[in-house]
Amino acid sequence: MIEVNAESYFSENIKSALKNDPPGEWMPKLPDKCIRLSSGFPAPSLVPVEQLKDAVASLLEEENDLPLHYIGSPKVAKLKEQIQERLQEHDIQASRDELLITSGACQAIDLIARILMDESTVIAIESPTYMEALEIFQNYTSHFVTVPVDEHGLDTEMLEEMLEERKRKGVTLPQFLYTIPTFQNPTGTTMSTERRKHVLKLADKYDFLIVEDDAYRELYFDKPSIPLKAMDQEDRVLYVGSLSKVVATGMRIGWVAASPEFITALSWFKKDLGHPFAQATMASFLENTDMEKRLKSLREAYKIKCDALLSALEQYLPPSVSWYVPEGGYFVWVKTEGIDTSELLTEALSDGVSYVPGQYFFLNQQDGKAFLRLSFSYENPKEIDEGIQKLGNVLKQMLSGK
Ligand SMILES: Cc1ncc(COP(=O)(O)O)c(C=O)c1O
Repeated sequence: MIEVNAESYFSENIKSALKNDPPGEWMPKLPDKCIRLSSGFPAPSLVPVEQLKDAVASLLEEENDLPLHYIGSPKVAKLKEQIQERLQEHDIQASRDELLITSGACQAIDLIARILMDESTVIAIESPTYMEALEIFQNYTSHFVTVPVDEHGLDTEMLEEMLEERKRKGVTLPQFLYTIPTFQNPTGTTMSTERRKHVLKLADKYDFLIVEDDAYRELYFDKPSIPLKAMDQEDRVLYVGSLSKVVATGMRIGWVAASPEFITALSWFKKDLGHPFAQATMASFLENTDMEKRLKSLREAYKIKCDALLSALEQYLPPSVSWYVPEGGYFVWVKTEGIDTSELLTEALSDGVSYVPGQYFFLNQQDGKAFLRLSFSYENPKEIDEGIQKLGNVLKQMLSGK
């Protein structure tokens, strides 16, 4: 009998992707009763459990077995209309053939990578960027252009310099830019309107696409910003969205809005690998929910948590530490002076508080050593305050060399 060596059967692409860190390496193993400032999850009390129970009950009452088959639930078709309507609220006009419902924004990103990338493709990413998207892209290529993010989002001047230099040297230009312009993960920053206009101009001038990940769009504290997709005159933006952060992450409802040619290619690979039951349940939930009211209360709740985090940072962190103040979303990005935040994490966890070390959000992990990402979404203000006090203590201890 010949012994099967699984690896010898893998494609070359897979073999090289498997050399990267395993997915989810960044997720700390939490001790019991740890204050979770690491998790980018909605607060448990803000997950609409009762309404989802009702949504399932009324769905099955109305449609019987239909949502439990591969196809046939009218509510699945309804969900697409509901998402089209929500997009219109943000000045994004997407017809039926310009919209694909996916299993979360992450599946949308993976499908986009699948149709646009091969191992020689160059893509531009923000530095730092959303670690799961980075993991996805690294499954397909190792050619990245990394562009810094500051308090006004992606530094488009720097992007222009990089593009110009590549053009001058005859080096391959990026196929697309992956950006999270609004309440970026991990920095919490929002791209200014001038930069939004600039990046669209650059896309035209240097002929690349933009993958806009707008997972946090609805969670603004004060006012919404204009999506790149709404400003896009040339169909260069593939717009990715999600209901994870405003309804429930486990439902995995996301989408891509783009011109029909892209949607057709994406659908080719998505096939029917979605979840009709989750989609139909979401449609039933949306039908019976005043979303404007829900969003308003989520915005208020997250603003209170964010304020609690910011005032605790002022109170407990040493003056050498700095951070960006977000205008929405889930995260605050913290910069320490000369502390290795993955070493600090061991101390923080044993004191009962978690965060995500900055290194995981960078292609070159060394660049992120001094940073850490705090999430204010999960815990309540009292726990947030306690967690930052603990973090302040371990930071001060490490700074004083104890
Ligand atoms: C920027 C960004 N995009 C996408 C997602 C994931 O969205 P989904 O749950 O719809 O896959 C997240 C979740 O943390 C995120 O931060």
